[in-house]
Parts: sequence; C-alpha cells; structure tokens
Amino acid sequence: MQRNNLPKLSLFPLTSDVDTQGHLRIGGCDTVQLAQKYGTPLYILDEFTLRHKCREFHNEFARRYPNTLVIYASKAFLNPALAVILKEEGLGLDVVSGGEMSLAQIVDFPGEKVYFHGNNKTADELKLALDWKVGRIVVDNFHELELLNKLAHSAGVKQDILLRLTPGVDPHTHHHTTTGILDSKFGFPLATGQAEMAVTRAIAAPHLHLKGFHFHLGSPIPDTPPFEIAISLVLNFASEMRGKYEFELDEFSPGGGFAVKYMVDSQVPSTADYAEAITTKVIDTANELGLTLPKLIIEPGRAIVGQAGIAVYTVGAIKEIPGVRTYICVDGGIGDNIRPTLYDAKYEALVANKVNEDEAAIVTIAGRYCESGDILARDVTVPPIAPGDIIAMPLAGAYSIPMSSNYNMVPRPAIVMVREGKARLIRQRESYQDLMRLDVI
Ligand code: LLP
Repeated sequence: MQRNNLPKLSLFPLTSDVDTQGHLRIGGCDTVQLAQKYGTPLYILDEFTLRHKCREFHNEFARRYPNTLVIYASKAFLNPALAVILKEEGLGLDVVSGGEMSLAQIVDFPGEKVYFHGNNKTADELKLALDWKVGRIVVDNFHELELLNKLAHSAGVKQDILLRLTPGVDPHTHHHTTTGILDSKFGFPLATGQAEMAVTRAIAAPHLHLKGFHFHLGSPIPDTPPFEIAISLVLNFASEMRGKYEFELDEFSPGGGFAVKYMVDSQVPSTADYAEAITTKVIDTANELGLTLPKLIIEPGRAIVGQAGIAVYTVGAIKEIPGVRTYICVDGGIGDNIRPTLYDAKYEALVANKVNEDEAAIVTIAGRYCESGDILARDVTVPPIAPGDIIAMPLAGAYSIPMSSNYNMVPRPAIVMVREGKARLIRQRESYQDLMRLDVI
C-alpha cells in the first residue's frame, strides 16, 4: 500500500490510498473490486471521512462558540444508513420535505434537533412536522406564517419557529444557487420592511413562538465576507426589533453553503476559517449591540458529505476526433450527476485501476445519456485509457444522488459504505422492474 503523490488523490476521501497493483483504495477497500462486485455506476461513501467532517464542524464551531448546534442539510444526500451516522455523531437535521422528515422519523432521529425548511411547505407537511414535534419550523413567508399558526392551533401546540430572512447579500455563487439576494423566492427581505412585518405578525401569532432568525445566502460560498456582512445586517435588525418590540433573539442561523475543494487548483476556506469568521462576527456584533449571545445553528450539507463520496464508472466507447477532442464514454452521466450540466460544475477524475501510470492524455468524460450536454468532466488528464477501465470521480457525496433521475429509463446506481476494509450496500441498484413499479397499464 502506498500513498500516491498525485495531487488529485487529496480530493478523494481521507482514507484513500493506492495498492500495489496501482488500484485506488477507499476505506481499505479496492475500488476496482467494488466495481466488479456491485457493478457500475457505483457510489462509494467513506464512513471515516463522513464522521471526521461531522466532528470537525462540531469542534471548530463549538470550541469558539460553545452554544452551537450543527445541523446537516439533508438535501445534500440522505438515506437511512447516513441518518444513523449523523444521529450517532450528535448532529441535528435540516429537512425540506415530508419525505426527508419521514426518513428522519424512521431512524428515530431526535425530533427536537430537526429544523424544517422550505419556501412552500404544504399543509400536510406542516401537520406532519407538528405531529412529530420537530424542534423548529423555519417560516419562509406570510402564507406559511398564517397557515402554521392555524394548524398549530388545531394541533393544540405552540410551535417554536425561526423566520427566514433575506439579507440582500450576494455570495456570488452560480445564480441557480444564490438565495440571499433581494430578488429571491426565499425568505422575508430586510430591505422592503417585510422582515419587520413578519416579526410583528409572528409575535402576535398566539400559537407560534418566535425563537430567532435564519438566513442562507447560497451554495457553495467560496469566501467568508458574505457571511460576515449578512451576520452584521441581521444582528442589527435583531437589535432594532428588540428596541421596538422587546423581541429577544434566542437563536440565530447563518445557514450553510460551505465550499469544498472540487479541483486541485481551487482555493476554499477551511472549516476552521469559516468557524473563525462566523463566530467572531457574531460575538463582536452581539457585544457591540448589547445582545445576549444567541444559540448558533450551522447548516452544512456539502461540506459534511461531499468529500466522503466518490462516483465510479466503467469506460465503454472511446471517440477520438483528430485535432478536436477525445470523448471517453462512461456508463453514468446526467442521470446520476446533473451538476456539470446544471451549474457548469467542474470535476477531476482518476483511472482507478491505473493510478500509478503517467497521466499524459487530455480527454473529456462523457455520459451515456441522449443529450450533448451530458458531459461529466472536460479536459481532464488521464493515463492511456481503454474500454473496461474504471473512472473514479471525487467529491461525489453531495447533490449527485439526491438530484439523480431515471432519464432515458436508466436505473440509478447502487451505493456502498466502506469502513476499515469492509463494504456494505446501503442502497441497491435499481432494476428495470423498479423503473416500472408505479406505472399502471
Ligand atoms: N441551509 C439551507 C437553508 C439551504 O438551502 C442549503 C442548501 C443548505 C443549508 C446547505 O448548503 P450546503 O452547505 O450544502 O452548500 N444543488 C446545488 C446546491 C443547492 C443547495 C441548496 N440549499 C449543488 O449541487 O451545488
């Protein structure tokens, strides 16, 4: 076993190494053997990296700001095996649908650590949340405020809520994932006076208890100033609300959106950098304004699960267009990872069965779907490559599988979790029968 010097390897899960045959190993398991055993496309999650990231987030924030709860943003990827690990690690959960909530219930996730988000929660979903007694409902708009107050009345409960505020700060993410600017479907804008109106209505709602404020600027946010600017705006707003309405800020969430390193040459803040910037700004601003330090809620998704996951594909057709480009076609693509097509997301790739060979060729890795835009990675360097080789792509743990589809009626991949040389299946590969399971002739 050797730790290869290839810089790309540092993007893979923390347990990655290369065996004597030049095969990529994750969690002590040979990824080439896993591909043979479980088939491809295959997603592999490394339990060590996952747990390490949970602890890193908790530790980096809590040692600077003890009253912190880290809640994992389920939308990045959730399944029962993962939820059990998050529960064991003591994290809370950000859910955005009845489906995510039901999954949390199935694994007996502590309801009080569950935060229910979303800009258009249905009445049924809100009832489910009230019945289960979720910790907080993060109210997004006036319709929801009124509806939730009525439903809480019927359920005979007083529900703790946060208000989602829109601070009007641009984090310069892809425009599809920018949420904290004024022109956004999410939240009550500070700039228009609607945030203040929401505070007055929430305070007046007899079946709701306003605990604090939340904002989420976008994802991924590659630097810390947008967080700092928005924290200052929202804490100043909280101070104004205290002056006007005696509102006390018990809880405060600056959301998620922590970036991960997708490419060898990309620079992103570390968890410690984010923790330092956010906690310093909260503490300094609260002190300046004379606010009691609120409980801090941090909502990472991608940064917990991203690096823990890799996607594994088998090479099939190779199309060389002389003087133009070589397409390496694999057995996955937009069906399991739509991010390159949707957000122009960039990925690196390794040939998992040839990690020690010199990477002399520049190729484009194309998917198998009937769309020209189905390209997983452009202009990546690889060793001489042939049909049957195994391609491994790092940073596949977040927002690939949960955004997957059955486009072209292609079954979705299996997922295995690896740990200390053992692999366990945590989601089966879909079958053709699964694809037709809900159809009626
Ligand atoms: N909190 C809230 C309210 C959010 O809306 C999100 C993500 C997060 C936390 C977690 O953000 P994270 O730490 O994972 O960046 N599909 C896109 C990302 C969409 C993120 C949506 N909201 C992608 O593949 O890049």
